Amino acid sequence: MSTGRLVVGVTGASGAIYAQRFLARAASIYKEIYLILSEQAIQVASQELEVTISRAEFSTKPWLNVEALNIRLLSSKDYFTPPASGSFQHDGMVIVPCSMGTVGRIAGGTSDDLLTRSADVCLKEGRKLILVPREMPMNLIMLRNLVTVSEAGATVLPAAPAYYHKPQTIEELADTVVNRIFQQLGVDVGAKQWMAPDA
Ligand SMILES: Cc1cc2nc3c(=O)[nH]c(=O)nc-3n(C[C@H](O)[C@H](O)[C@H](O)COP(=O)(O)O)c2cc1C
Repeated sequence: MSTGRLVVGVTGASGAIYAQRFLARAASIYKEIYLILSEQAIQVASQELEVTISRAEFSTKPWLNVEALNIRLLSSKDYFTPPASGSFQHDGMVIVPCSMGTVGRIAGGTSDDLLTRSADVCLKEGRKLILVPREMPMNLIMLRNLVTVSEAGATVLPAAPAYYHKPQTIEELADTVVNRIFQQLGVDVGAKQWMAPDA
């Protein structure tokens, strides 16, 4: 049964647009979204999207173009927050985009902040954990870490956009990844399906 709650982590891999598009959509679907941003996520979003994300005066408006009051920003060093404990029920966690550094910390079990602790919790509780890594090329350590998190129960959903629906804009291209995240969460966002009879 859905709790209507989702945990979202955003890290400093390239692809801030994926977090932007995913969160804007998720805000209209989920009752509560618990958001954890790494320091580098804020830097990369500033560089790629030219937006300022302020922790002190947090608002989703400048970043997502919507005021989403159901998105609650958590401090990445504050463990006195719901997703730090397995006793808090939620529908899962998405880390989008997910840096290879964060993948490595999850794979190594060396959680050192709320983001990686929340991911650990998902794995130990058998909850959905979707990682959206982006890197190229990948070294052997990165590839092995992806295998490790996959074996531990995470879904590895690389930020590898699809072209077969002929996206016309960068947003449509990014949404080919975003739609797959929702698909993995079991949420129907009406995305195009390849060769579906009613498409
Ligand atoms: C502009 C820019 C782009 C980056 N792109 C990537 C990337 O695509 N994938 C990746 O794993 N790291 C990337 N990095 C490096 C991460 O930001 C860095 O490893 C950081 O320590 C990740 O920390 P975090 O996981 O706490 O966000 C990028 C850094 C910069 C400045």
